[in-house]
Amino acid sequence: MNHFLAISDYSSEEIQSFLDLAVDLKKEYFERGNQPLLTGKVLAMIFQKPSLRTRVSFDMAMRHVGGDALYLSPNEIGLGKREAIGDISRVMSGYVQIMMARVFDHQHVVELAQYASVPVINGLSEYNHPCQGMADALTIQEKFGKAKGLNVAFVGDGNNVAVSLMIVCAKLGWNFTIASPEGYELSPEAFAAARDISEETGVRLAFLRDPHEAVHAADVIYTDTWTSMGQEEETARREKVFPPYQVNAGLVSEANKDVIVMHCLPAHRNHELTDEVADGPHSVIFSQAHNRLHAQKAILVRLLGAG
Ligand code: CP
Ligand code: NVA
Repeated sequence: MNHFLAISDYSSEEIQSFLDLAVDLKKEYFERGNQPLLTGKVLAMIFQKPSLRTRVSFDMAMRHVGGDALYLSPNEIGLGKREAIGDISRVMSGYVQIMMARVFDHQHVVELAQYASVPVINGLSEYNHPCQGMADALTIQEKFGKAKGLNVAFVGDGNNVAVSLMIVCAKLGWNFTIASPEGYELSPEAFAAARDISEETGVRLAFLRDPHEAVHAADVIYTDTWTSMGQEEETARREKVFPPYQVNAGLVSEANKDVIVMHCLPAHRNHELTDEVADGPHSVIFSQAHNRLHAQKAILVRLLGAG
């Protein structure tokens, strides 16, 4: 059974092939019209956390290709609380053709996949956000093509979004630098995964403290919230630590002149990203959000064997 739990589970060629399919499906959507590739197929979307982009883009992706989607809210099925994850997974496998889950604990989506007889997609865990990473890569390739050796700089918390970005960069041959404050670095587990890939693809990985050093010669500057879902009780402490890591016009001016600025959204404007930059000429944040639709449609179509 093919699942989509982490970008590291796929080879560089497979990742590029998902992206090429996303480009084709995007062209169909805008130019030739969607094809009914998944007629009669239903995606179950299990959410333990809130969502705008993930929920709507997965739902619309299924509708475009003739399928349907079912939304299960955090309180509805009580993943691991009302019922064991393995039982939920085996029951759902008899009702729907594919599942997507947004969870707190990464092991929960892994367990869902272990027991499922249909594909399972990770719609964000505390460890990673692979669908975001794929939409990000699509957005970067739309701007810069498939050239290797781009410099991608992540400024801020070493969180789930940073993990998937680092892995997709390592897979696709882009150098990845992150600047994070002490205590908020990427996990050693994520670093080890990226290091192994980078040894094969020859990319440079750098883990820094100084955001100015990180954005030097950057083609891409990426940031995300300082406080992720599930960390709300740490907000006050994080708001004190992270201000030097704000992506503002001054920081952007230190990068390459055609740098793009990315954020997975939701953004906390004038905290991690200023209005001036979010709405300025370097920002691609809305293309990035829109590319979730196309990247995920490719994942759905490929996992269901229809493209
Ligand atoms: N970027 C992202 O996953 O957004 P949502 O939390 O709104 O789904
Ligand atoms: N790092 C953020 C991403 C939201 C899409 C979080 O986990 O809340």
